[in-house]
Amino acid sequence: MAFWFCCGKSSYRRRRGKEHQTWRVFSLKELHAATNNFNYDNKLGEGGFGSVYWGQLWDGSQIAVKRLKVWSNKAETEFTIELEILARIRHKNLLGLRGYCAEGQERLIVYEYMTNLSLHSHLHGHHSFECVLDWKRRMNIAIGSSEGIVYLHHQATPHIIHRDIKASNVLLDSDFQARVADFGFAKLIPEGATHATTKVKGTLGYLAPEYAMLDKAIESCDVYSFGILLLELASGRRPIEKLSSSVRQSIVDWALPLVCEKKFDEIADPRLNGKYVEGELKRVVLVALMCAQDLPEKRPTMLDVVELLKGESKVKFSHIENSEMFRSILAVESSGGTSVAEDTLDYISEEKELERPLKENTEL
Ligand SMILES: Nc1ncnc2c1ncn2[C@@H]1O[C@H](COP(=O)(O)OP(=O)(O)OP(=O)(O)O)[C@@H](O)[C@H]1O
Ligand SMILES: [Mg+2]
Repeated sequence: MAFWFCCGKSSYRRRRGKEHQTWRVFSLKELHAATNNFNYDNKLGEGGFGSVYWGQLWDGSQIAVKRLKVWSNKAETEFTIELEILARIRHKNLLGLRGYCAEGQERLIVYEYMTNLSLHSHLHGHHSFECVLDWKRRMNIAIGSSEGIVYLHHQATPHIIHRDIKASNVLLDSDFQARVADFGFAKLIPEGATHATTKVKGTLGYLAPEYAMLDKAIESCDVYSFGILLLELASGRRPIEKLSSSVRQSIVDWALPLVCEKKFDEIADPRLNGKYVEGELKRVVLVALMCAQDLPEKRPTMLDVVELLKGESKVKFSHIENSEMFRSILAVESSGGTSVAEDTLDYISEEKELERPLKENTEL
């Protein structure tokens, strides 16, 4: 594998055998043409940082273009340097960057287009009624996305903390292989760029409780979010469910008592119609709860997670099965895992962190 850099043209190329992939700087004109002038009909969705549009380049290849909402000139250099690092990262389970565009006030990021959109859209969105995610696909997505994060945490240089792992950032290619998106991106966004983000980047329901206290993100915060994502994948539930107009329940508080009572069948997504591999479901759920523990030092690393999900370490798994936290409902109650009654937290259902002190968010 070789990278080479063409001075002045901001163009990197990568060679792997016959395969030849490139990324490059796009002109605004080209992206206008590809997206039919960012036509509303081309819009795939909108996140905290901007809107994403489907587009087609002159060579027929399909792209997804993220058009950032607001940008500050101050962040210019950082944006370019980081994007150049991110664009060189390639892994089968990471969404590939095709390039970017920085012209005038416009900042755009160009990605490969994923035909099966996001995991979120299959679990809770437009595609949730089609029920195309059978158990085999879910297991593949769990393992694939964990391998993508292992690459970011342990193999990429420099190491990358994602900071915003969630179902809408796990995209699915034409074979339903998982591609983790938006890695390393959150830290590029300047302070106050949108109403939906704050100093601490992340999304409600997925945020590790200690995240607010830390000055910098660390790997275990991603592990926590990944645990929430695994529970979501197995159960089809949202990270935070609205039980009534004033009561919300986190997915951990819902799942942990069921695990203690060994009611794994009640955790499985009803849309699976009972068609799942019991041992695998148990593995996914127990690993998920280990990841989503309050104490970061008790969480596994993503390397452990991959090994456990693949069923490669019987010793480690039996250690988890016998963990104190799965022994009794009493343990659950003493960990503070109860539903929360809140009148004013309507923003929770919007999945975006608003401009509130994080402590309030993490009391959920
Ligand atoms: N490369 C892509 N291929 C296909 N669809 C995409 C692609 N990138 C994004 N999307 C779609 O666009 C939607 C919006 O993406 P975006 O990343 O802006 O928001 P988000 O993931 O919901 O939140 P965040 O801003 O925190 O990442 C996604 O949910 C997804 O459905
Ligand atoms: Mg995203």
